Amino acid sequence: MTDKMRILMCAPDHYDVDYVINPWMEGNIHRSSRELAEAQWDKLYQVLQTYATIDLVEPQKGSPDMVFTANAGLILGDTVVLSRFFHPERQGEEPHFQAWFESQGYKVHLLPKNLPFEGAGDALMDRAGGWLWAGYGFRSQLDSHPYLAEWLDVEVLSLRLVDRRFYHLDTCFCPLTDGYLLYYPAAFDTYSNRSIELRVPAEKRIAIEEADAVNFACNTVNIDRVVVMNKVSDGLKQTLKGHGFSVVETPLTEFLKAGGAAKCLTLRVTEPHQESPQLSTVQNRTIRLEGHLLDSGLVNRALDTIVAGGGSFQVANFKLGEQRLDTSVAEVKVSAPDSIVMADIMGQLIDLGAIDTAPDISEAKLAPVTQPGVAADDFYATTIYPTEISIAGEWILVQGQRMDGAIAVTQTATGAVAQCKLLRDLQVGESVVVGSAGIRTKRATTTLKKNTEEFSFMGAGVSSERRVELVVEQVAWDLRRIRDRGGKVAVVAGPVVIHTGGSEHLNQLIREGYVHALLGGNAIAVHDIEQSLMGTSLGVDMQLGVSVHGGHRHHLKAINTIRRCGSIAKAVEQGVLRSGVMYECVKHNVPFSLAGSIRDDGPLPDTKMDLIEAQAEYARLIEGADLILMLSSMLHSIGVGNMTPAGVKMVCIDINPAVVTKLSDRGSIESIGVVTDVGLFLSLLVQQLNKLAGLVES
Ligand code: ARG
Repeated sequence: MTDKMRILMCAPDHYDVDYVINPWMEGNIHRSSRELAEAQWDKLYQVLQTYATIDLVEPQKGSPDMVFTANAGLILGDTVVLSRFFHPERQGEEPHFQAWFESQGYKVHLLPKNLPFEGAGDALMDRAGGWLWAGYGFRSQLDSHPYLAEWLDVEVLSLRLVDRRFYHLDTCFCPLTDGYLLYYPAAFDTYSNRSIELRVPAEKRIAIEEADAVNFACNTVNIDRVVVMNKVSDGLKQTLKGHGFSVVETPLTEFLKAGGAAKCLTLRVTEPHQESPQLSTVQNRTIRLEGHLLDSGLVNRALDTIVAGGGSFQVANFKLGEQRLDTSVAEVKVSAPDSIVMADIMGQLIDLGAIDTAPDISEAKLAPVTQPGVAADDFYATTIYPTEISIAGEWILVQGQRMDGAIAVTQTATGAVAQCKLLRDLQVGESVVVGSAGIRTKRATTTLKKNTEEFSFMGAGVSSERRVELVVEQVAWDLRRIRDRGGKVAVVAGPVVIHTGGSEHLNQLIREGYVHALLGGNAIAVHDIEQSLMGTSLGVDMQLGVSVHGGHRHHLKAINTIRRCGSIAKAVEQGVLRSGVMYECVKHNVPFSLAGSIRDDGPLPDTKMDLIEAQAEYARLIEGADLILMLSSMLHSIGVGNMTPAGVKMVCIDINPAVVTKLSDRGSIESIGVVTDVGLFLSLLVQQLNKLAGLVES
C-alpha cells in the first residue's frame, strides 16, 4: 500500500442545528442531542483511524457547522481553493479553515467575493479519470468552476443539482476506487446525467434508489476498497460487495439533522495530482434586454429560460424606465456548463429579443451549404419576429421572415443578402447562419403602445362568450379599413364553414371585396360545390337539416361534375356552377389555393396534391396580408400560422379551444382566438359590416 491517507476532521464541541440553510435542518433546530452527536462522531473517528491518519482543526464557537470539514475548501496536491460560503451563517468558518491550510503549508487561492463555492462538498475527484466533478445549482456557482480548472490544473466537469434535498454534490454523488461511481441519478438534470453516462461506463455506475439516497448512502468515505457510511439497505450492500467493496456502517443520525453524514464530516487532505488537461467548458456571455421589461414579464421569462436550460445568471445592470412609457434596459451575465448548452440557451434568449453583447462575437457566423436542402448542424432556426443579422459590421434585415426556417446568406454586388428559407430550399453556394452570435430579433414594443386602444382585448388570447361581440366589432372595423385603403385580407377556411351555414355570409364578404385570397383544402370546395349543385352538404339537406336518401353519393357526384368540366373556373364559365363560395371567388377574381391531404376524395382538379407546391402557393397568397381570418380549419390554419411573420393580425375562430389556443400561443400580440361557432361568427360579422355601411351612408 501507498502512504496512509490523511483526513481532516473537526470535533463537534460546538455542533448544533442553530439555523436553517437546507431542507434537512427544517424542524430540527436544537433537536440534535449533543451527547449522541459526540458519540457518533467519536465512532466515525475510530473507524477512520484504522485506515487513515486524522488531522484535527480547532472547533470554533458560533460555527456549529464547522464539523463539516468537507466544506473547508478543495485540495489538490499542495494547492487549496478556499470555500466561499453561499449562506452568511457559515461564512465565519472561512478564516479558520484558511489559517489551518496555511499552517500546513498549502498554497491557498481565494475566489472573488460574491462567487460562492463550497469546497469538497461540491467538487470530487474522479478516482480513475483524474478529472474533477463539480456541482452547481444550490450552493456553488457555475462561474467558480473555471477558477478550479485554472488554479488546480485539472479538467472540470460541471454537474447541475436539481433536488434541493441534495444541495451539495457529495450528498448524492461519490466517485469510488477504480473508477466506480455511487450516485443518485434523480438529483441531477438530464444533461448532467448524460455527461455522467458518457464518462463512466455502465458497469461502473452504481445508481441508488431514493430510500438509500435519503439515508445519505452517497455521503460515503471511500478508502481503497472500504466504504464508510451512515446506513445502507441490504440490496445496496450486496451490490457494493459484488463490486469488491466492504461496507462499514456507522450511524450519524444527529448529523443528518443538519444535512450531513460521513463524507461531509471529513476532508481528504492528501489528494494526489494526476496529469490531466486543465480545462473547464464553462461558458459566459452577456446579453442585453431592452423594452417594457417589467410590464411584459420579459426579464422573468429570460431568467427562467436560462435556469430551465441548465445555465445560471447574474444581473449585471438594470436600468428601469422612469416614466410609464419609457423602456428599461437589463444586462445579464449568462453562464452554461458547456458550449452546447450555451448555444441552446442563447438561441432561446435571442427569440425573446435579447442581444448578445460580446464584441468579438457580434458578427453572425456563417456555414456554407454543402448539400442541397441541408443546413449545417447548429443552424439558427427562425421565429416569426423581424430578425437582423450582423455582417461585416452592419445589421441587415432578413427577408421573408417566417418561423422554422434557416437564414440563407448570399453575396451580391451590393453586399450580403439574407433570406429566410425552408431547409428544403437551401442551395449549394449559399451560407446559413449558425449559432447565436450576431443575431437580433425585434419585439414590437411600439406596436403594443400604438394599438393598445384598438386591440386592447387581444392580450387575453382566447376570448369568452361575451367577448365574441367585441371581436366581431373589431374585425368588422378592420375589414372595412383594410378594404378601403387597398390592403389585403386572406381567409383560411375549413368545410365547417359550409356545414354551419356560414357560406352565404362568406359569399357576401367576397362579393363586397373584403376577401383577397382564400386558402383551404379539397373538402371546403367539395362541400361548397355539393351544396350549390344539390343543396346538401355531405348528403345532409342544408335547409331541412336531415339526411337525404342516397345523399352520401352527392359528395362524389359533385367531384365528378367538376372533373368533367376540367376545373372549378371552367365549371363557372360553362354555367354549371352558379353559386357558393368557390363561385364567388371565380367571379370576383379572388385567387384561391386548395391543399390536398391523404384523406381527400377525388380530388377536385384544382386541388394541389403536391404539398411542397401547395405550401409555396399558400405562401405566395398570404404575402403582404394585413389580416388573416382563420375559420375552423386546424390543419390549414396552423400551416398558415407557421409561414406568417409577426405583425400580421391573425384572427382564429374555432369551436375547439385547442385549435384557438395553439394559434394564439404564437406569443405575438397580434393574434387573437375566439372559441365559437363559425357560422354564428360570420353572420354576426356580416351584420356588423352592414351596420357600419349604413352608418357611413346615412
Ligand atoms: N448544515 C450544513 C450546510 O448546510 C451541512 C453541510 C454538509 N456538508 C456537505 N459536504 N454536504 O451547509
